[in-house]
Amino acid sequence: LYWRTASARKLPPCPVYTLPLIGNILSVDQNPRKQIKAWHRQCGDLFRLHFGSTLVVVVSGYSKIKETLVKKSSMFSDRPLLFVNEVIGLGKSGIVFNSGAVWKEHRAVTLHIFKDFITKDNLFLPKIEEEIHFFVEALANMEGKAVDIRHFVYTSTFNIICSFVVGKRFDYDDNRFQYAIDTFDKLLECSISTAPLDFFPFLKYLPGDIFKARRLEKHTMNFKQKVIDFISEVEESDRTGDKYGDADNFISAYNSKRNEKLKNGKETTLSRNNLLRTIMDFFGAGTETVSATIAWCLIYILNNPGVQTKIHEELDREIGRERAPTLEDKAKLPYLEAVIKETQRLASVVPFSVMHVTTQNVTVGDYLIPKGTTIFPNLDSVLHDSAIWGADADEFHPERFLNKDGSVLHKEEFIPFSTGGRVCLGENFAKMELFLFLASMFQKFKFECPDPLKPPSLESIFRIACLPKPFKIKIVTRT
Ligand code: HEM
Repeated sequence: LYWRTASARKLPPCPVYTLPLIGNILSVDQNPRKQIKAWHRQCGDLFRLHFGSTLVVVVSGYSKIKETLVKKSSMFSDRPLLFVNEVIGLGKSGIVFNSGAVWKEHRAVTLHIFKDFITKDNLFLPKIEEEIHFFVEALANMEGKAVDIRHFVYTSTFNIICSFVVGKRFDYDDNRFQYAIDTFDKLLECSISTAPLDFFPFLKYLPGDIFKARRLEKHTMNFKQKVIDFISEVEESDRTGDKYGDADNFISAYNSKRNEKLKNGKETTLSRNNLLRTIMDFFGAGTETVSATIAWCLIYILNNPGVQTKIHEELDREIGRERAPTLEDKAKLPYLEAVIKETQRLASVVPFSVMHVTTQNVTVGDYLIPKGTTIFPNLDSVLHDSAIWGADADEFHPERFLNKDGSVLHKEEFIPFSTGGRVCLGENFAKMELFLFLASMFQKFKFECPDPLKPPSLESIFRIACLPKPFKIKIVTRT
């Protein structure tokens, strides 16, 4: 009855027939990108779906995304409570899947720590450079071989988050590191299968673990324990003065901010549980997104052969091959930056952002979006919009990000990190990693297709980020 009265209540249109109780869940594909694109074309910038009793509104197009996430940010900035919150068992904690006072304070404190580490004093830069040095060495050992590079990139971006969190990187064959990465990978593997439980929690009681809920629980607990160990080790070394890693690490910085607040008699939500959850958030938000983008860049390059030659020419001209690239070189490498932007635009690794929830009834255009509606910001629709990027929007064409004088063109519609009050907290961090990884990789190597007639597939796999399908690449050291 509620759905039938929808038009009277001015809800956005629904593209498919809504079944009683389950709503539209059976109409959604495993890899929903094409489908959402078709529904956007059919219904316009706002359309609704019903997942069980949850009302979902997909917001597409730059102007509507700006209106909702930027102009009406406070009405669109909450998050839904997801099954993973229940699994982790720390209540409403951390940043990514949290709202209210805890989210607000943690977003502010984390931004502050990022600023100190990454932009102001660049305390963190040497750690990224150190990791990249080992990464390049590992690739050099694969010289001439056809390898699945995704594993190396993922391991390395995972190590960078470790470095940031605990103050040191781990050897790739360190057992504890291997265990952490393995557990986390299994956790991610299960997380997409449990997505239906976000809307139909009773499904977790079905026998047979069809939705991998119990497996998710097991891997999450294992990973959580690993993070607890990390925290204890860093805190122990802070207490005893024994060197564990570098003094500049997130755990110590967070604890000192907490102590400072307590010392000054301020109320704070900074706590052990929130620290734990925030660290888990960094691994969730900051590993697969970056490594998938690097892998996509290689895939586009193998599918568009002239691009790599131009990157090599620019690197040789501006940096040479003797010294490693640094962040200061970024301004001298506009073509590489354009390639990175074009990769992010086309790959759109987080195509529907992270779900938001409305905090009150709100009107957008002619439509009413009730309080508590789950919002999917369709970033894909903006990043692939031919009205913004031209008729060749679905092709890889880095020059679209260059001005006539060769400098980088910055467009406000370039929103792979989303926009508004929830915009990706690690944006600067990620941009720094992408630049340093790719500059170092292309400086040292030429990447080739093992079979020149068969470049890697451009199809994606839907996980936390949109990942490329497994592919092999031949690594050739540039002489
Ligand atoms: C949130 C994209 C890397 C930390 C997000 C969101 C997107 C995104 C689309 C959701 C924003 C929204 O809700 O509207 C990306 C992409 C990355 C990347 C494309 C890499 C290419 C990172 C890294 C970190 C990070 C390296 C940190 C180490 C976060 C956090 C949030 C977030 C903490 C939650 C912000 C909040 O809820 O207030 N990211 N991200 N991300 N990202 Fe990233």
